[in-house]
Amino acid sequence: MTSEQAALTSGADFWHTASTPPITLTDGPHGVRLAGTPGDPLTGRPATCFPPAVTTGSTWDPDLLRRLGEALGDEARSMGVAVLLGPGVNLKRSPLCGRNFEYFSEDPLLTGVLATAWVRGLQSRGVGASVKHFAVNSQETDRMTVSADVDERTLRELYLTAFQRVVREARPWTVMCSYNQVNGVYASQNHFLLTDVLRGEWGFDGVVVSDWGAVVDRVAAVAAGLDLAMPGPDDTGDRALVEAVAGGRLAPEALATAADRVLTLVRRAAARQAGEYDRDAHHALAREIAARGTVLLKNERAVLPLPADTSVAVLGEYARTPRYQGGGSSAITPTRLDVPLTRIATATSAPVRFAPGYGPPGPDGTPAEPDPALIVEAVAAARESDVALVFVGTPEETEGRDRTCLDLPAAHVDLIRQVAAANPRTVVVMCNGGVVRTTPWDAEPAAVLECWLPGQAAGSALADVLFGQVDPSGRLAETIPLRLADHPSYLDLPGTDGHLRYGEGIHVGYRGFDAREQEVAYPFGFGLSYTTFEYGTATATADDTGIRVRVEVTNTGDRDGREVVQAYVSRPGSRVRRAPRELKAFANVPIAAGATAEVVLDVARDDLGHWDVALGRWLVEGGPWHVSIGASSRDLRTTVVVDVPGDEVHVPLTAGSSLADWFADPRGARLLGAALAGPPGSPAVDPALLAIAAAMPLDRLARLLPGGPLDPAAVAALVAAANS
Ligand code: BGC
Repeated sequence: MTSEQAALTSGADFWHTASTPPITLTDGPHGVRLAGTPGDPLTGRPATCFPPAVTTGSTWDPDLLRRLGEALGDEARSMGVAVLLGPGVNLKRSPLCGRNFEYFSEDPLLTGVLATAWVRGLQSRGVGASVKHFAVNSQETDRMTVSADVDERTLRELYLTAFQRVVREARPWTVMCSYNQVNGVYASQNHFLLTDVLRGEWGFDGVVVSDWGAVVDRVAAVAAGLDLAMPGPDDTGDRALVEAVAGGRLAPEALATAADRVLTLVRRAAARQAGEYDRDAHHALAREIAARGTVLLKNERAVLPLPADTSVAVLGEYARTPRYQGGGSSAITPTRLDVPLTRIATATSAPVRFAPGYGPPGPDGTPAEPDPALIVEAVAAARESDVALVFVGTPEETEGRDRTCLDLPAAHVDLIRQVAAANPRTVVVMCNGGVVRTTPWDAEPAAVLECWLPGQAAGSALADVLFGQVDPSGRLAETIPLRLADHPSYLDLPGTDGHLRYGEGIHVGYRGFDAREQEVAYPFGFGLSYTTFEYGTATATADDTGIRVRVEVTNTGDRDGREVVQAYVSRPGSRVRRAPRELKAFANVPIAAGATAEVVLDVARDDLGHWDVALGRWLVEGGPWHVSIGASSRDLRTTVVVDVPGDEVHVPLTAGSSLADWFADPRGARLLGAALAGPPGSPAVDPALLAIAAAMPLDRLARLLPGGPLDPAAVAALVAAANS
């Protein structure tokens, strides 16, 4: 029955399908936010608040992400949740995006690999993922209406890539379409995205669910390939679907297929076993991930790690009221909270002195103004202690609102400066969901730790890193710029008249900084460790599956540690404009003090392709590729050049193809050369003329030479012969 089918394609309420039995979908992504209070759909009952994606992204460790997915699956199962709304795999195009804390990286490969592991882990527990927000949802400003205007190559190579990897490799049960429009068409009504690409090209066989409230026109959405409009109920939309089928405006099969897919999802979920989870074990995992996602940006005179008998001044309100997650739909009610101040006091046997240093932010997130009295008190504590820890960070970062600048609150910067002047062993501890500008102050403290948003184990994870239980192996998944105006996305944001141009094209994040040879504060991939690593000389082989690189990495320090070995490719002399370097493989390797690991990095051939706009397909350029291996995008230790066999393609020659194109094609060159040949013995084409006319289409050259050898019939014959 059409009306039953229609009813199945919208929700029964905020979090349930209209099927019998209903299934529950809930946020996501870094915890299970199952609504617990009647009448309040937004506050979740207690669940482990794992670190958000900004932190998990910095671990560069798919294995850890798989374990996170498994743990989330166990919690979801224990609460009867069928689909967890995550992961968020949008690229961090701009550091201002208010939701960057929910996304992994500015790089599509890193995002895709981590998200794939997460989804595999989650779904191994019989709980479905919802990969979101499909697609090109990179800012919160006007997110329900804005059109992301992005060229096709950039769309394919940057903004769709992570989705493509997750869909192909992890087969998520659902994909969530975004609120925004893509090139003038709402994502929820975008046939190209939801059907041609997602299902047609990538083979997606699950349910496309709308972001909550993203559907504008239910009929257009179903026709485009959307299966489930959330939340519900939406009786008006259901009726519109029935009428559209009756009136011949919607194919009955389109509605039947959408309803069928929802029922298939319900059946998939029915196989799920109930279960319990171990709160302590999950808290321990949250702690492990938070410590592993911490990035050590600076560590002069090896001030860190701290000996266990260090007296510490713990300064800054965030040490006692931690920033550990962002605001909006992902906010989790934690099962417990490890407060940094308490955990540091437990970790050291020497005195700990606390001073708030600045006031808490206002209810709307406005930071407190600098307070000289609070700073004086903090400075006094710093003077009396071996080490001063200054806790700083962004005020509330939340879904629905972009940031307006990259600066820390003035009160935090003042505190850093005054404390660093009073104690040479000052360590800045940052908690923020998106990058902040560090250069105004980072020369002053001895060490800087970027903890991002560490989740409910914030304090214990931080103590593990500060006191050296864990080697900080986090690496930047996004560039920290010197200033906002340097950022490749800067000129376009936040868009005008409903349109947001993606003007930097493929040069997103480090790709743009590298292409313009710009200095940055800390480059993509960067992060220090308590030990040091040396790289041997890389070797590489290529075959039709891709490139395999081998390199030896030695831990040259006296502590065990982890290195994140990164492989960037470039293709000098490419036919298309490319970023100077693109991350194509990485490995997260534990290496004991003094030991050497042989690291093998595989670059899949598919990841070498660029989207050829003229041919409408991926294309791997043959010839020499450079693969540089190193510890960050700007710390490349060894480069190897390897010949990659190219894809064989024949680009058809037309009357509109330029002379250069004709002469670049062996057969075209022969045919056109012969057609233009003068009397025997004379040169075939005047080289000077060719140099000037290289860009001229063949048919226009023909028109310039009336009575010459290229009449319309001759041009047609040439085209036919060249492509036969
Ligand atoms: C967010 C989604 C979320 C959904 C349900 C939307 O506002 O954009 O990420 O899953 O709400 O809470």
